[in-house]
Amino acid sequence: MRVAIIGQGYVGLTIAVGAAGAGHTVVGFDVNDGLVAQLNAGKSHIEGISDKDLAGFVSAGLYSASTDAHVLDGSDVIVIAVPTPLDDHRNPDLSFVHSASELINQYVKSPALIVNESTSYPGTLRTEIAARITTVEHLYASSPERVDPGNTQWGTKNTPRLIGGLTPAAVARAGEFYATFCDIIIEVSSPEVAEAAKIFENTFRQVNIALVNEFAQISDALGISSREVIDAAATKPYGFMSFTPGPGVGGHCIPVDPSYLAHVANQVGIPATFIKRANEVNLAMPAYVVKRVVAGAGGSIKGKKVVVVGVSYKANVADTREAPAAAVIDLLREQGATVVWHDDLVSSWRTESSSPITGADIAVIVTMHDGVDVAAIKACGYVFDCTGHLAGVDGI
Ligand SMILES: NC(=O)c1ccc[n+]([C@@H]2O[C@H](COP(=O)([O-])OP(=O)(O)OC[C@H]3O[C@@H](n4cnc5c(N)ncnc54)[C@H](O)[C@@H]3O)[C@@H](O)[C@H]2O)c1
Repeated sequence: MRVAIIGQGYVGLTIAVGAAGAGHTVVGFDVNDGLVAQLNAGKSHIEGISDKDLAGFVSAGLYSASTDAHVLDGSDVIVIAVPTPLDDHRNPDLSFVHSASELINQYVKSPALIVNESTSYPGTLRTEIAARITTVEHLYASSPERVDPGNTQWGTKNTPRLIGGLTPAAVARAGEFYATFCDIIIEVSSPEVAEAAKIFENTFRQVNIALVNEFAQISDALGISSREVIDAAATKPYGFMSFTPGPGVGGHCIPVDPSYLAHVANQVGIPATFIKRANEVNLAMPAYVVKRVVAGAGGSIKGKKVVVVGVSYKANVADTREAPAAAVIDLLREQGATVVWHDDLVSSWRTESSSPITGADIAVIVTMHDGVDVAAIKACGYVFDCTGHLAGVDGI
């Protein structure tokens, strides 16, 4: 098949490589010309895709990237994989989805299967995409992406793929396409079910992370290790699933997607109280971490040198979107500390560069990548670990 993918970020490039690997001819369309040039030179910008694989597909003629929307025309399949962030009022910002739909409306003259993989609330495919494309009658399906960056066990191939379509023909066509590079296809009765499943999955994580974050605070006040309690509870073979406490939530999904569900819930008169409370708990974690660091370091960190270890939102990825490390650093600085950060994967962020760990009075581990110099962390006067990796130090 000839496949066009709108958006070449984490999701779009992952699908592009999956489809090229299945022998499809893939063109990745993106508005970022620097990124497009880099991809055409065979340089990947995401952890799960190697330069070698990408360059192989480029030289075999199975993959190319472009900023020219004319490339969308003549495709059998067009996949939309654009950002779905929140606006300044924490409401869904569908402007990228709308602009992708407008490009299809303007440039695509022959019928295609249009699949939306961007995460959004139920009704997006029908009312925000298909309803805006009036020039050609296409087939429409929703297949929300479930990729977990950095996860080496579950990837595009072996993570079951949900498909819901506006018509049975759309479901069938989408099933044929995804079956070429995904092991398990699960058809659901409508695109709204597929869309809702994705945001419910992420809301389930957001709420359970908030629960365990609150539990960690209760445990600490009671003088019990929350992690030991969680490990003990996890010995129950049914009815319990482990979540671990941390400095808050980050990335494009967990801090964002539940607010898409809350938005539609409010529209139908249901207040979505769990989502609201979970957001409050998770957003307050950086302040809790800093309060514990100040207390653990003797009541004041004024004038102390603090190194924050790991600033991306999760281990072994370079993604700093919504990373709680930003709030942790700002709040430590408000306490009068001199704060640097160490993260070899991120290396430069918020106009600052990664610093060595050595020489700090205090180390606060926010995210623990593989291969971090643990001896250098332990050599700091006081260590606070938000990740549960280091035994015998303070932490959550
Ligand atoms: N990153 C994840 O782990 C993940 C997992 C599952 C689902 N999702 C969802 O997938 C969607 C995409 O996320 P992502 O992480 O790939 O985003 P990203 O920011 O990594 O990439 C999006 C890309 O889209 C491009 N873009 C924006 N508007 C465009 C347009 N009109 N035409 C062409 N390109 C355009 C941007 O330049 C960027 O390169 C979001 O809805 C997200 O919630 C992300």
